[in-house]
Amino acid sequence: MPVVLAPLAGGPSTPELAAAVSNAGGLGFVAAGYLTAEDLGARLATARRLTDGPLGVNVFAPGRGPADRSAYAAYVERLGRWAEQAGVEIGEPRYGDDGWDAKLDLLAEQPPEVASFTFGCPDARVVDRVHAAGAEVWVTVTSADEARQAERAGADTLVVQGGEAGGHRASFDDRPDLPAVGLLSLLSLVRATTPLPLVASGGIATGAALAAVLTAGARAAQIGTAFMLAPEAGTTPAHRAALATSEPTALTRAFTGRLARGIRNRFMAEHDAHAPVAYPELHYVTAPLRRQAREQGNADLINLWAGETHELAREAPAADIVRRLADDAESALRAARARRTTPLDPAACRALVADWYEAWNAHDLDRVLSHYADDVVFSSPFIASLGSDATGTIVGKAALRAYWTRALERFPDLHFEPIAELYGVGAVTLHYRGVEGMLAAEVLELDRRALVVRAAAHYEGLASPTAEL
Ligand SMILES: Cc1cc2nc3c(=O)[nH]c(=O)nc-3n(C[C@H](O)[C@H](O)[C@H](O)COP(=O)(O)O)c2cc1C
Repeated sequence: MPVVLAPLAGGPSTPELAAAVSNAGGLGFVAAGYLTAEDLGARLATARRLTDGPLGVNVFAPGRGPADRSAYAAYVERLGRWAEQAGVEIGEPRYGDDGWDAKLDLLAEQPPEVASFTFGCPDARVVDRVHAAGAEVWVTVTSADEARQAERAGADTLVVQGGEAGGHRASFDDRPDLPAVGLLSLLSLVRATTPLPLVASGGIATGAALAAVLTAGARAAQIGTAFMLAPEAGTTPAHRAALATSEPTALTRAFTGRLARGIRNRFMAEHDAHAPVAYPELHYVTAPLRRQAREQGNADLINLWAGETHELAREAPAADIVRRLADDAESALRAARARRTTPLDPAACRALVADWYEAWNAHDLDRVLSHYADDVVFSSPFIASLGSDATGTIVGKAALRAYWTRALERFPDLHFEPIAELYGVGAVTLHYRGVEGMLAAEVLELDRRALVVRAAAHYEGLASPTAEL
């Protein structure tokens, strides 16, 4: 299923949530942020006990080093005065790398299926080490430039985080002037930059939105806020209550000194305009007051991280959320296709049918393939047995050419005897005798250019996609 549970550091992430998503056929992430390596190891072990499915671990990449004290001193003073008046406690600014080395050691010793990195790109040595341990490396990017850097470092997959996303922006280098590009725009920009697989993240709370990012070139979506009301999530009651409202979100550095999206509240309104770039120093300054506010259920002072679509989050078991997203995405894709189906030009359609038979019987694959769109999806019960793809489905003309080349080598006498042509809306079904005289029907869905965009072959007496010839 094309659903990845976003790592949700700071409370919502639990081993139970990660395992439930993986058990439902998605990919669950254990968030390493703010944990010691020891606690992370324990959580990963718990998640492993709860699922046989794949798991990801997400680690914060360290920043450039301590911020200059002069950059944040005035803000800390301001918070100090405010905290005294409000009767709340704040902490001391300090720098830290969130246990980077120890967490890398853990990834090497207990490798998850996927190790993902946010807030920066690990260097090629780190990527090699994670690969050597047997894990894939995913890097979250917020621009085409970061995508190029991650590709150069050896990342296997890029998580493309749009400006809609809840929680911290993943930018390699938080700067005041960085744009927060929306997800569809960013996906298009990154898709044009790199051939790496992409996972889209930010504001995806419905199957239709999942379908939209799949259409825009993503393999899957990394979804956070939509899972935060699941019973398996560790989201606090005050945060749950805020998610269920339609209060808008905003980007702010007020809580941590790093840009993050959360539901607007009093703390954000009072301090946002004064907050500088200083992460993690300011994270440590506000940590005690946020902890106290969480304990007291005071949503005015909590960092209510949430994506722009938080009011669409539903309270349901994580497995139900995964299944619903995947099912609704399928329906949305079908509906979108149906909306753009145009009646076929009958002459073009008949010409296609005539040429298709002639080209096949001449074994002229170039001519056959001239009738297919580049991104055609083709399924046949023979695909798996001829070793092309275990799913029985092939995507793209190049893969289709390779498959048919093998098929023609295997059946040098292949000849099609037409029986009937059945015309439908945007589709034609060809009924013929094919391979070894077997009865066959092939449904060809055509686009407005009369190019085949989807084809499904059916054979007499074969039921499974792994049928042996
Ligand atoms: C509460 C919360 C915590 C998050 N923690 C992390 C994290 O630890 N690591 C990370 O890479 N992304 C983190 N994110 C960002 C997510 O990976 C993802 O980009 C975001 O949730 C997508 O937007 P959505 O919440 O609208 O689905 C967090 C997001 C939220 C809401």
